[in-house]
Amino acid sequence: MHTSEQDFAALELAARLAADYRSEVAAAPLVKVAGYGEIHARFDGPVPETGTDALKLIAELDAGARDGLRGIVAPRFYAWVNGHSHLAGVAADWLTSAWGQNCAGIPMSPAGAAVEAVAARWLLELLDLPPESSVGLVSGATIANFVGLAAARGELLRRQGWNVEEDGLYGAPNLRVLVGADAHNTIFSGLRYLGLGEKRVTTIATDDLGRMKPGALEQALKASSDPVIVIGQAGQINTGVSDPFARIVPLVHDAGGWVHVDGAFGLWARASERHRHLLDGIELADSMATDGHKWLQTPYDCGFTIVRHEEAHRRAMDMQASYLTRDNQDYRHPGAYVPELSRRARGFAAWAMMRRLGRSGIARMVDDDVQIAQMLAEGLAAIPGVSVLNQPELNQFVVRFGADRGEDEGDRLTQATVDQIQRDGVAFMGTALWRGQWIMRVSVCSIATTPEDARITIDAVRSAWEAVQAAG
Ligand SMILES: Cc1ncc(COP(=O)(O)O)c(C=O)c1O
Repeated sequence: MHTSEQDFAALELAARLAADYRSEVAAAPLVKVAGYGEIHARFDGPVPETGTDALKLIAELDAGARDGLRGIVAPRFYAWVNGHSHLAGVAADWLTSAWGQNCAGIPMSPAGAAVEAVAARWLLELLDLPPESSVGLVSGATIANFVGLAAARGELLRRQGWNVEEDGLYGAPNLRVLVGADAHNTIFSGLRYLGLGEKRVTTIATDDLGRMKPGALEQALKASSDPVIVIGQAGQINTGVSDPFARIVPLVHDAGGWVHVDGAFGLWARASERHRHLLDGIELADSMATDGHKWLQTPYDCGFTIVRHEEAHRRAMDMQASYLTRDNQDYRHPGAYVPELSRRARGFAAWAMMRRLGRSGIARMVDDDVQIAQMLAEGLAAIPGVSVLNQPELNQFVVRFGADRGEDEGDRLTQATVDQIQRDGVAFMGTALWRGQWIMRVSVCSIATTPEDARITIDAVRSAWEAVQAAG
């Protein structure tokens, strides 16, 4: 039999093991026990000649992988901008997988397509973005950026009388791309996929925290009359700041250009009355990218591309074939806005998290995370020898240890303190280069993190820093 009783039983075992892990990780230390090499050795071996039932292999998977899992869903995990993979979203995602829903089109999954359409509309309402915008559900912000930039490329060239979707870029009119100096690296991936070239961009100067300078943008716009894509950012990966959209977007539109915004996490500030002013003017941008698996707390993979010009979005992405019938043109066709054909019905998990938290719950989570980031920044800044380099206006900030002891020593002390924090396992932070120096990054992007966690974290950082200083 292709499916045995044990295969069915594996679903229940997976649910039990998952619940067990989630209870454990909520309280467990964040020390990683087994590393890549050890886990790899456990799983490596010849290709299995014969099959194994799912009950057995799920137990084997859990036993082999559990101690090599990073505690991303733990409350004091701040190393990257990772959400909590909320259990409501996980449960919806499990159903999606068990239902085997492929959201390539309405005939393939009427429910997947319909729920995705609702999730897309709710997203626009929650973020207070123009209701006529189209939304594509993709795997994450990297692909969401790519899709937005594809729409930009196609539309700007179409206005020049060139059909890039049909004729490609050979012989096409020139396009300029202007990017803030502190853009996320995935923007350059998108430019690479689109034949626009990572290195052909003009970099626009940013301020100390990473916001694009409108004066520098204005000058760059004047330098050429070629059609122009300007890529802005809502939420810089280290400092959390956003570009001044109310100034930038009109400048670009006056020049006939297209504004794309990478708002992987920062766009969610629009859901909060308290913080939405940080993104004033963004509603006029032409396209945006954001993630569900960051501040909406869905499990991976869930990202959204939002485009104010639906036709441009569709032209860039739509793929039709006779065997994929489209009877009702009034319905939203999920495959018209994304690069993939077969894909999981992501709308279920997105819908589930919006339904689980509601408008007020999402706003409260954003407000709480910002407040926790501010508490953390204040508490860490009060520790002698610890410098908080930016006051978080959103959920991100950076820290340096021993900043007064010279560049190299500050780098060493910062790395050593983050290593010590990771070894102690009370909290988990990471490092990055910022303005030429190594810093500790702090991202607060989880619904699980509380003010009490902030207090525990401040003590953990203090004790790691004291240990590093004592070691000399
Ligand atoms: C600002 C920004 N842009 C883009 C990305 C890429 O998003 P994803 O990993 O979902 O593709 C991230 C991820 O951390 C990000 O923070």
